[in-house]
Amino acid sequence: MIERREFLRNSLLAAGTLLVPKYSALASGPPARKSRVEILLDEPLGIISANIYGHFAENLGGVIYDGIWVGENSSIPNVNGIRKELVEHMRKIKAPVVRFPGGCFADSYDWRDGVGPTDKRPRRTNFWEGAEPPNSPANHRYDPNQFGTNEFVRFCKLIGSQPYLAANLRSLPAEEFYRWVEYCNSPAGSTTLSEMRAASGNPEPFQVRFWGVGNESWGCGGNFTAQEYAVEFRRFTTWVPGFGQELSFIASGPNDDNWEWTRSFLEEIVRKGGGQLKSIYGLALHYYAWNLSRGRTRDWNAGKGDALKFDVTDWYELLRQGEVMESLITGHWQIMGEIDREHHVKLVVDEWGPWYRPGSEMTPGNILEQTPTLRDAVFSGITLDLFNQHPEKIAMANCAQLINCLNSLYLAHEDKFCVTPVGHVFDMYAAHQGGQSLRTIFSTPGVHYERDANPASLPGLGGSASLHDKVLVLTAVNPHVSDPCETEIGIPGATIKSATVTTLTAADIHAHNTFEQRDLIAPQTKSVETKGQVFSYQFPPASVTKFTLTLE
Ligand code: AHR
Repeated sequence: MIERREFLRNSLLAAGTLLVPKYSALASGPPARKSRVEILLDEPLGIISANIYGHFAENLGGVIYDGIWVGENSSIPNVNGIRKELVEHMRKIKAPVVRFPGGCFADSYDWRDGVGPTDKRPRRTNFWEGAEPPNSPANHRYDPNQFGTNEFVRFCKLIGSQPYLAANLRSLPAEEFYRWVEYCNSPAGSTTLSEMRAASGNPEPFQVRFWGVGNESWGCGGNFTAQEYAVEFRRFTTWVPGFGQELSFIASGPNDDNWEWTRSFLEEIVRKGGGQLKSIYGLALHYYAWNLSRGRTRDWNAGKGDALKFDVTDWYELLRQGEVMESLITGHWQIMGEIDREHHVKLVVDEWGPWYRPGSEMTPGNILEQTPTLRDAVFSGITLDLFNQHPEKIAMANCAQLINCLNSLYLAHEDKFCVTPVGHVFDMYAAHQGGQSLRTIFSTPGVHYERDANPASLPGLGGSASLHDKVLVLTAVNPHVSDPCETEIGIPGATIKSATVTTLTAADIHAHNTFEQRDLIAPQTKSVETKGQVFSYQFPPASVTKFTLTLE
């Protein structure tokens, strides 16, 4: 059998089937680094769960009020109170699942406040009230509860998503968790709560499958030790009626590389027997890339950088933190396997993304809003490619957050709306959903840069590939700020019938969209001519690229 690398080299030389992009902003720019990508059709890694492309919408700042919910009587185009433009975009990206209502908010939320007649719903102090800036609107501080369970499920139905509800473990008893499940899932006419649901126009059960049991229980969710939380988790999840709906419980998992939480939580869970693992669908991992201090501090506030004002080193430092996700996935997975040998429990990365200091809000007063740039698009491409490469480990992931907060796909205020570069990446990568992930080998020189006079590096080109019948999707990220990457791409054993390439890049690494310039940065798609098993392509610097290759 020919070695894969040898095959690629030979066929490139012999076939002469060079796929040269019809456009390249840097055709006469700096010399390209040479790389090679091999997509191995005979090395499947597993099916990429569509839910890896999930979202997170917390009742925080401008996410719900203004971002998603504009109100039924609003002059802003809406579908039963939900921002219409958002609905249209989320349908386009095939949004599979949305997590709500938190985040930290979840452990202060009484679901009963958000059901029943809207004019009778109470106004409550939002969990984030104490952190709100002075110019934030009143409904960010005092929750009017106009967007509750019914409205959230309506939103999910409109966009074709599954709801993922995060339950309050810190400040409500287990009974209220049970009752929320009953409200959502008990059959029409069966219980008082199902009648309450019907009175709001929803006789049929919502069939909510995904339930988070607390959030960040090591911190805002109760300040538990892993052992204490495991005991609570067992109590909350024992004998919750399913009403014919499979319930998938997601446990509050580690922050970053807190290996100890993962180990101690699972050890305590199995103290009552290994069968207890069956009650856990996923362990939630949270990972934010926030420290741009180049090693000077680990202080949560002092370490943060700016979303818009950054230099080349800041660019690489953020992307290098993106690459850390792989070690978190494999590290936690290994520990999980020590206790859960059959790997019944999967990872659910239900909060991820960059987190900058305040100052870049497009709508002043929106706490935790930041303006995503091309840098965040590249970061998001790196993250999603890593998820695609570990399909057997990751059951779900939820980008933090959907709109007007952190790594937003969308920004909106009143009647203004724009898609961020991150939103464009989700649009491009949606093509991976449900595909067979294929082992893909990237052989490429690393990117080397100066980190305050110390050498630092990160991978020069990375990506992932998935197969969908005869369609092969390859996504790749070139993190280099100025050098293109001249790459030979081979698919041993396949013949390419047709190909398109979609590229997201910009001349300025700070490029971002605004309400005034909504399409300053947007993906460009071209068809490309190709024949055979191998082609070459020059990835532009600072870019996210998707190939859609139809095989014979
Ligand atoms: O996404 C913002 C906050 O970050 C969430 O509420 C919390 O879970 C995390 O610490």
